[in-house]
Amino acid sequence: MKVHNNISLQPYNTFGIDVITKMFATFSSEEELSNLASDKNLPKERLIVGGGSNMLFTKDYDGIALKNNIRGIEVVDENEEEVIVRIGAGENWHELVLYAIDKGWAGIENMSLIPGTVGAAPMQNIGAYGVEIKDVFHSLQAFHWDKKETHSFSKEACEFGYRWSVFKGRLKGQYVITSVTLRLSKKPEYKVSYGDIKSTLEEMQVTQLSLKAVSEAVISIRQRKLPDPKEIGNAGSFFKNPEISQKQFDSLKEKFPSIVGYPTTPGIVKVPAGWLIDQAGWKGKKIGNIGVHKNQALVLVNYGGGKGEEIWSLAMEIKKTVKSIYGVDIEPEVNIY
Ligand code: EPU
Repeated sequence: MKVHNNISLQPYNTFGIDVITKMFATFSSEEELSNLASDKNLPKERLIVGGGSNMLFTKDYDGIALKNNIRGIEVVDENEEEVIVRIGAGENWHELVLYAIDKGWAGIENMSLIPGTVGAAPMQNIGAYGVEIKDVFHSLQAFHWDKKETHSFSKEACEFGYRWSVFKGRLKGQYVITSVTLRLSKKPEYKVSYGDIKSTLEEMQVTQLSLKAVSEAVISIRQRKLPDPKEIGNAGSFFKNPEISQKQFDSLKEKFPSIVGYPTTPGIVKVPAGWLIDQAGWKGKKIGNIGVHKNQALVLVNYGGGKGEEIWSLAMEIKKTVKSIYGVDIEPEVNIY
């Protein structure tokens, strides 16, 4: 639990942005976390790096960056139908997915290959291909930095929404998630109606559905559309998909007949920001070392050596164009520092 000074955060963010943090420490247990929280010599400003897959650093960080390394996967309860599993927040999300598939536990296979750690997953209610973590969520444990207490949060207490939880809102910055408990099923109900999953399974000549087959289909779609952060720096979707009124959608549809939209609540339509950005002409654009990904316009990329502020100003340019063409506001999904 050594505290280091002036460390590059490049290995700790999937955008691969090279900024310096004033201090850096790793913790592997709640006890170590509690010791850090009690240390009066450390700066007040802090941030937790999980997998660093949802952050954009636009400048050096003047506080302490803390890497969560709490590990472990433990079955806390089970019956014939389901299993309740507690996972240390520092575990890698995709490795957990593979572990669950291997055990025959269903519910997270559609969320294969999402970068990041288990602890970061509920923060923004990660989701893909028709499933969100809230669908299998049981509870989580989180450490309150100022009170130095661990609190348990039920699903309701997390106030999950689309890429949203109470930890991004009202309780922002107060807690460190230490473990996440999921309710997984031993009787799979496959969700293959979203997007390209069905056609990909057909291409793969899958006749008998299995957790592994669904996971492999998702992996194949993601690899086709999304850049691998190990090769090209990125943080997945940079923006959230905006929700607009049915009325606004209908009038956009008249002007842009090929626009895509999915009804969410009555009177509200979710429009893929990827479509808006793509149609606005941004897809594949390269500006110096950064750009908009060639296969998915929602993903901004750092080809190497790009600066956080360059990505941020590109994002703002994109936001401006989308607003002027469609009259729709798009908001970042990633956290900006
Ligand atoms: N589209 C375009 N051009 C593009 C990208 C998308 O026209 O460049 C259109 C597609 O043709 C499709 C629609 O937009 O009709 C939706 O595209 P896609 O299925 O790729 O999903 P998305 O809405 O762009 C969301 C999530 C992803 C998640 C996928 C699959 C958000 C912000 N993003 O993307 O999540 O993997 O659905 O479920 O909700 C992430 O959060 O980082 C992320 C990658």
